[in-house]
Amino acid sequence: MNEELRKKLSQVVEKTVSNLQSAGNLETLNEIRVGVLGKKGELKQLMKGMKDIPAEERPRFGQLVNEARDKIEENIDFVKKNLEKAAMEAKIASESIDVTLPARRPEIGHRHPNTIALEEVQRIFVGMGYEVVEGPEIEYDEYNFEKLNIPANHPAKDEQDTFYINKEILLRTQTSPIQARVMEQGKLPIRMIAPGRVFRSDEVDATHSPSFHQIEGLVVDKHITLSDLKGTLAEFAKELFGPETKTKFRPHHFPFTEPSAEMDVSCFKCGGKGCRFCKGEGWIEILGCGMVHPHVFEMCGIDPEEYTGFAFGVGLERIALLKYEIDDMRLLYENDIRFLRQF
Ligand code: DAH
Repeated sequence: MNEELRKKLSQVVEKTVSNLQSAGNLETLNEIRVGVLGKKGELKQLMKGMKDIPAEERPRFGQLVNEARDKIEENIDFVKKNLEKAAMEAKIASESIDVTLPARRPEIGHRHPNTIALEEVQRIFVGMGYEVVEGPEIEYDEYNFEKLNIPANHPAKDEQDTFYINKEILLRTQTSPIQARVMEQGKLPIRMIAPGRVFRSDEVDATHSPSFHQIEGLVVDKHITLSDLKGTLAEFAKELFGPETKTKFRPHHFPFTEPSAEMDVSCFKCGGKGCRFCKGEGWIEILGCGMVHPHVFEMCGIDPEEYTGFAFGVGLERIALLKYEIDDMRLLYENDIRFLRQF
């Protein structure tokens, strides 16, 4: 038997076993395995020496090599199992869930200041017996303008202000077309408010947005007078801004009402003395209103000899900004939860 080969064989086994013991992970283990058992591994190299030993000794040497391989494989299996177990335990430890931690609550959004203000306005008018109705955001020119006494060449129809889809269809510039739609249905008397989104081709700034909201109001019945309008809107202002609130009506012009007015409320910050909030005026403008124009009644199939009525239009953002003392309208559209949570 070639002593040198035999010695080399046992050295390979010893060295491998000791290397395996210090293998810290599966990659190192694999490198060791390939280094000794692989195609170009140390055992294969030793087998090459077979040709130098006498033929009768070769089977014995082959047997020794097999035993050495078995021993190495056994050791590899053993170390591999241990490493795998350790790896699994480390993984489990790193992924474990601490069931004693308090549960994460689902993030619930927050009602938008617009919504809060709208619900407040609705509460007030529903309390006075009004119905809440809606109309389409994409509207006919006929309803948005014509039936509201705004004919084709009227300055209020300025193309600059309106998003036209075609000659007859546009994004409504006001909620007033809902007046015409409700009157046309012919169910009298009418006592309604109609909130909704409106659109105007305006640049965005602290007080303008191409899309905002209005709340329309309409009352039609026999014997409705200007004092009904004033009484109703004065009551509305008190409910919305507090019982001390005073109201003032300034003559104005709207094509669909006659007479028309703008309503101011006494500044709820300074009580009317004049402060930064009301720009020293003591009054804050909050809505447009008037007695429904007889021509509008006629175009909507209501006899102006028999019926009268009043109408008003409030900007919802305006109310929200005033009520919550927000100084920039853009904040309302950013949907930053940190801002919204304050209301
Ligand atoms: N639609 C008007 C606007 O957008 C607001 C308005 C004024 C509505 C007077 C009315 C009203 O119903 O009577 O400026």
